[in-house]
Amino acid sequence: MFFERPQNGGETAVLVHIDFPEGVNREDVAEFRELVISAGADPVELVTSKRDVPDAKFFIGSGKVEEIHDLVHLHDCELVIFNHSLSPSQERNLERTLKCRVLDRTGLILDIFAQRARTHEGKLQVELAQLQYQSTRLIRGWTHLERQKGGIGMRGPGETQLETDRRLLRERVKNIHARLAKVRAQRQQGRRARQRSSIPTVAIVGYTNAGKSTLFNALTSAEVYAANQLFATLDPTLRRLPVDDIGEVVLADTVGFIRHLPHKLVDAFQATLQEAAEADLLLHVVDCAAAERDGNIAEVESVLAEIDASDVPQLRVYNKIDLLERGEARIDRDEHGQPEAIWLSAVERNGFELLTRAIGELLGKELLDEDILLTPADAKLRAILYGLGAIQREQHEDNGDIRLSVRLQVEDFKRALARADIAESRFLPEIREAWQ
Ligand code: GTP
Repeated sequence: MFFERPQNGGETAVLVHIDFPEGVNREDVAEFRELVISAGADPVELVTSKRDVPDAKFFIGSGKVEEIHDLVHLHDCELVIFNHSLSPSQERNLERTLKCRVLDRTGLILDIFAQRARTHEGKLQVELAQLQYQSTRLIRGWTHLERQKGGIGMRGPGETQLETDRRLLRERVKNIHARLAKVRAQRQQGRRARQRSSIPTVAIVGYTNAGKSTLFNALTSAEVYAANQLFATLDPTLRRLPVDDIGEVVLADTVGFIRHLPHKLVDAFQATLQEAAEADLLLHVVDCAAAERDGNIAEVESVLAEIDASDVPQLRVYNKIDLLERGEARIDRDEHGQPEAIWLSAVERNGFELLTRAIGELLGKELLDEDILLTPADAKLRAILYGLGAIQREQHEDNGDIRLSVRLQVEDFKRALARADIAESRFLPEIREAWQ
């Protein structure tokens, strides 16, 4: 990669966390440490302080800058990491004064994303986000290149280094956009094919480290990378899952959510998160033993709202019941008897039958699994239903009518009726039956 990227692997780091009057609390510090370790750095000191507002030049006060300077040199550190977003000039000023590389929270998260990206699309998304982040920090890239005397092969005729960097950056961004568009079109096609074949999609969402990949693997017996590191999952991975009553569903594992995820990143992962927004059901996995359980739930809800997924039906999955004192698998239901939450352990594979039963109940009620009677004039509807792969059996009656055993989502059936110009009222009893 032509831009500067942290070379991880046991880099020693001083961490800096500032308490501002509202917002950030101690839990965030613990998570920050986790993130840093996730990125592969080795935190040797944590510097904390209280401030009302960030300092314009250094973000922190000059006394703190000095303290960090001394620590950096005492431990011979390679990196100072802030649990906050720094402006490019603050980052530059700090680097000059501390004589050490400085990384802010966005840079840190991007680095973790870069290490975890597994699919082609995920990698492109991360690189794009990195380039966009880097573009505001170009000056540093420029001085860095100048220090290396030249950057042979990087310079265009008659251009200054800065212009060359800008031009390269623009070209790379354009190129990635084009490649992403292609990948997205393919993904869209896949999604449409699934919709056509009426296979419901169930997307697993949840706060990072909640156990999404573990659950996904255990349910589908697929080998998807799961590790006790934040962001073990970056790309949605799709697998088929057999569910009683409704046949098969597609299970999608998605990126782990995190507090204070920079907005730019939410944008960058929009396409990946789209899988959740277009799902028929969300499994919101929660680490029920986490101290920050309710805060994590609220954070996931707010990201879901941001990606327009708030209206997708949701089943809460309280995972890791093995860590609770009296952790028994169970199903919670709302006042209408609908499954609301499942308590299970992905690691011990305890509670899986309750989960698949709940998925079946939540999705199955919308499934039309009936015999319908068509007249020869309904040939168009018959063709559409065949196109959807929804016809299980076909029987010709003596009077020329056709009896079809169909199995598809009620919504798909209604759409098929609309396309064939047939009023829903003709099949109302069958549709009602499906809703019971
Ligand atoms: P991200 O990809 O970072 O979003 O994480 P994730 O939600 O996919 O979590 P992952 O499946 O990687 O699990 C995180 C950690 O929790 C791993 O160390 C798992 O072994 C552990 N874990 C997952 N499920 C359970 C469980 O039921 N019980 C216990 N005790 N640990 C679990």
